[in-house]
Amino acid sequence: MKVLIFPDAERAVARVADTMLSLVRANPEAVLGLATGGTMEPVYRALIARAAGVSFARVTSFNLDEYVGLAPDHPQSYHAYMRHHLFDHLDTDPARLHLPLGNADSPNAEAERYDATIAAAGGVDLQLLGLGVNGHIGFNEPGSSLGSRTRTKTLTQKTRDDNARFFGADEEVPHYAITMGIATIMEAREVMLLATGPHKAQAVANTVEGPVSTFCPASMIQFHRHATVVLDEEAAAKL
Ligand code: GLP
Repeated sequence: MKVLIFPDAERAVARVADTMLSLVRANPEAVLGLATGGTMEPVYRALIARAAGVSFARVTSFNLDEYVGLAPDHPQSYHAYMRHHLFDHLDTDPARLHLPLGNADSPNAEAERYDATIAAAGGVDLQLLGLGVNGHIGFNEPGSSLGSRTRTKTLTQKTRDDNARFFGADEEVPHYAITMGIATIMEAREVMLLATGPHKAQAVANTVEGPVSTFCPASMIQFHRHATVVLDEEAAAKL
């Protein structure tokens, strides 16, 4: 595992955006694994700002997760997040952009279908990962099986509280999500985890230096053959 520490978040973010762009330049049919959350917003801004001359028309993408119960047009859905922060600003082909369908009749069947679709596309070339304050990746909360596939997960109160800022005061944060599993994530040919800010420092230390444990699902990437952890100095403070 490679750990890159940058003096500030801006440079950490730029590194992630540049890695994605280099991949798409080299392979216009790349399969990107995408993530959501506040950390990724500047990444997508930087990507859009640097994307001149790079076509995303043949890029395929798979997002990590989606809230159960939210339709793709719900403003707090990850579908909407991705359109707003990335897809609408590039020459993407909507047919190639995948997220789990949060309002599917059967979330469990949808999770299985999603996992199979990733495999059918030949797997993910580069999987972006954010990091939950509790060590989650995607919505694989502490206690997640390290061998898990895409499935429905119950969100912890901590994660629901952390994400409440994206929802209106009168809206409830969903209790469940469909998320790629840890084993699904580990099958990506490359994974890149980005964490910025002092509130991520403990989770970063557990991820990079802690024991590989279900208590910190992100620690599993220690076993990945091509994993990079990109940090600013604040997130690296406890290493
Ligand atoms: C959510 C997402 C994760 C993300 C995490 C961190 O729970 N499902 O994929 O990594 O939040 O979010 P933030 O970047 O806002 O701290």
